[in-house]
Amino acid sequence: MGDIKKVAILGAGMMGSDIALSCALAGYDVLLKEVSLDLAAAGVERIRGSLAKWSEKGRLAVDAEQQKSAVARITPVDNFSGFGDVDLVIEAIFEDLDVKSQNFRQLEEVCKPSCIIASNTSSLPITKLGACFSSAERKSRFVGMHFFSPAAIMKLVEVVNGEDTSAETVETACAFCTSIGKEPIKVNDCAGFVVNRILGAINDEAIRLLEENVASAADIDKACQLGLGHPVGPFALMDQISNELNLKIARIFHGIYGDRFLPRPALVRKVDAGHFGRKTGKGWFDYSKK
Ligand SMILES: NC(=O)c1ccc[n+]([C@@H]2O[C@H](COP(=O)([O-])OP(=O)(O)OC[C@H]3O[C@@H](n4cnc5c(N)ncnc54)[C@H](O)[C@@H]3O)[C@@H](O)[C@H]2O)c1
Repeated sequence: MGDIKKVAILGAGMMGSDIALSCALAGYDVLLKEVSLDLAAAGVERIRGSLAKWSEKGRLAVDAEQQKSAVARITPVDNFSGFGDVDLVIEAIFEDLDVKSQNFRQLEEVCKPSCIIASNTSSLPITKLGACFSSAERKSRFVGMHFFSPAAIMKLVEVVNGEDTSAETVETACAFCTSIGKEPIKVNDCAGFVVNRILGAINDEAIRLLEENVASAADIDKACQLGLGHPVGPFALMDQISNELNLKIARIFHGIYGDRFLPRPALVRKVDAGHFGRKTGKGWFDYSKK
């Protein structure tokens, strides 16, 4: 990718660390920024774990030497001091308009004018996020790049153009995705884009089936896998994504699309109980013994 050489990722959580890994495996130098060096270093550890896990399962074809050099390309940081020569920033921090906008305004100060700033938001409209930038040039270089979990191996990226995103920015973002082994699709901005609008509807209906006691979570998952050919059922996927985020997304969709995305009471209860999914050891299923 001619235009993009150095990449920065904001947020070394579940998504940011795997996106950093995909970029590093493709040969890009990556700055991985967190709120503290400890969290950034924890992100690098997560990347090592991801590499080991997916190589062992045969989903990533990388030998020990390639793994080592990919990790060496990632620099954990807790500030913006190295961002002056970055060509692309992919933001993957909390799903919160104010927190994201605050970070974008800081990026506007430190990044060079040609730098493309992208958001991995799942549910916030790109046009609304892009409105926080002060200059028209910066708004034209702001784009959605929506990866899917686990981002180290999932191929799809929704490249989303907001109201002010230039066609050139969309093309560069798509070419970058291809350069890291992903498959981009172009999406015109709307909350949830394509995949999460469809997924939101599937999840809601799956939870309704559970609330109505039609079948168990395990059997609803089995129905989707064996009857519809889905690789993972909706409850296992919600646990993978985290119910906390699922509820945040449901609330955003409800605000925008109305009652068809009214958050399901059973999902609210899971979050109230702290049963977020895999990352807390319990969600729709119990992972504590596995
Ligand atoms: N979880 C998914 O399956 C999924 C899929 C696609 C997109 N997304 C989106 O990706 C983003 C991140 O989601 P996640 O699941 O990785 O969340 P996460 O909670 O695992 O990670 C978020 C990270 O951002 C860090 N952070 C917060 N403020 C920061 C700042 N100012 N600078 C740097 N880092 C900061 C936090 O410390 C945390 O480690 C969200 O916008 C989410 O909607 C998530």
